[in-house]
Amino acid sequence: MIRLDKMLSELGVCTRSEAKKLARAGRILVNGVPEKSADRKIDELQDEVLVDDQAVSYEPFVYYLLNKPAGVVSASSSEDYRTVIDLIPEQRRGLFPVGRLDKDTEGLLLITNDGALAHALLAPGRHVDKEYEVQYEHPLSPADIAVLQKGMKVQDEVFQPAVYLPVRETTCRLILHEGRYHEIKRMFEALGNRVVHLKRIRMKNLTLDESLAPGECRLLTEAELKALREPVRQPLPAEPSSRSGHNPEENQ
Ligand code: URA
Repeated sequence: MIRLDKMLSELGVCTRSEAKKLARAGRILVNGVPEKSADRKIDELQDEVLVDDQAVSYEPFVYYLLNKPAGVVSASSSEDYRTVIDLIPEQRRGLFPVGRLDKDTEGLLLITNDGALAHALLAPGRHVDKEYEVQYEHPLSPADIAVLQKGMKVQDEVFQPAVYLPVRETTCRLILHEGRYHEIKRMFEALGNRVVHLKRIRMKNLTLDESLAPGECRLLTEAELKALREPVRQPLPAEPSSRSGHNPEENQ
């Protein structure tokens, strides 16, 4: 048995004082019931602990880097569609995708059973980079690029500034720090444009392994995992294979 706040701090989810606040805010569930008291005793083997809906446990963790293909959903289970979990060879209980990509979006998706790491990567305010390669219908004007870089308001929703890196006339890279629903598609729609292909190529310092065909996955290396656990640093976009036209420095 272990105290809830001690367990969460040992697993790196949060500090003990943060655990008290999370508990008071009703963000910690123990066996499906909100637990308001962070000093409650937990049975590590029996009790199911969720922080912001992510499972937290001492189970051995696994970490897969998946090149998500189009046509599968970013969910642990679905009645109607194949899920990203169906593409993982080891059917271990508790695996889930870290964040969501749209059904038609491809690219990097981390699959794990490590709720603490997922929380550290996804929690609001962590500002973890997510870098995408975006192909769109019409070339962007300098004014469009400025809007992407400054951030925009779409139907009362504010989209934070993106880092814009040109690649080709109708392809760019965008680095975002949030993970809003259809974020990039809605930003382009607001510009009167349309995304025709979307691929995530980086999350924090984990880059898509281009040797993985869509639908293939592999375990993370020790070095990748260590880097993923490091505190957030400034964006380090991977070099696009070809960039033409603008100087990326001018557009950031
Ligand atoms: N933005 C989108 O519009 N879709 C995704 O899948 C990811 C980011």
